[in-house]
Amino acid sequence: MYYVSTTKNEGRIIIVMEKNNNMEPKEFFWPFSAIYSSITKWMQPAYSDIVQRTGINKNHKILLDIGGGDGRLAMEFAKQYPCLTKIISADISSDMVKRAKKNIRKKNLEHQILSEIQDVHNLTYPDDFFDVIVSFGALHHWRNPVKALTELSRVLKSKGVLTIYDGFDRPRFKTIRNTVSTFGGSFVLAMAYWVGSKDTLKKEEIKKIAENSNIKNISLNFTSPLVTLKYIKP
Ligand SMILES: C[S@@+](CC[C@H](N)C(=O)[O-])C[C@H]1O[C@@H](n2cnc3c(N)ncnc32)[C@H](O)[C@@H]1O
Repeated sequence: MYYVSTTKNEGRIIIVMEKNNNMEPKEFFWPFSAIYSSITKWMQPAYSDIVQRTGINKNHKILLDIGGGDGRLAMEFAKQYPCLTKIISADISSDMVKRAKKNIRKKNLEHQILSEIQDVHNLTYPDDFFDVIVSFGALHHWRNPVKALTELSRVLKSKGVLTIYDGFDRPRFKTIRNTVSTFGGSFVLAMAYWVGSKDTLKKEEIKKIAENSNIKNISLNFTSPLVTLKYIKP
């Protein structure tokens, strides 16, 4: 089934036909959510590395982790940056959000982290709301990444920072090696990453997404195993 939406690029309205209007990506329904969630326990070194790369400063108060899964990256932000007064871990999958709420409750972080259902293409937040937006491993799941970028830029404050991390290209043995050396994770974790990221976008596709978005000064850094899309809102 197709549905039609519009997006703006340099003043032009582009009509987009999308093939699938399922709200939830099939792969993150139960039991896939449960399988994924059993792996994230072992991904702490990767989350810690991502938090340090994101470069939080003392003026940053409100953070959105979009496609936040079971909340473990948000929990790592809370641990390393108590100065973040509100962290929202948002995900389209209700089962992921349920798991995130449970993880957050277990660590007594409910005062700092909220987990809720959101679709990156239609966020319910007001304009200019977040100081920092991050996303890890979710870009390749988005139905319409160009529209998603427009929406993320809308909810980002002026001078706010958006950083999107994802895999790129078809993973090769080199990617496993780089995952282990970058994140200090185990070989088993790297294998899981390799299997799980078989659908990641190609370098060229990611460049096209950035070009077609109406965010002009977005920077791309392809350093295996991750692509980093970074944007500071003027
Ligand atoms: C590979 S998981 C990554 C989860 C988490 N960031 C982590 O690193 O553990 C991708 C996540 O993106 C979510 N997702 C996919 N499409 C989405 C959308 N349109 N809006 C919000 N979240 C989405 C999925 O439900 C899933 O939890």
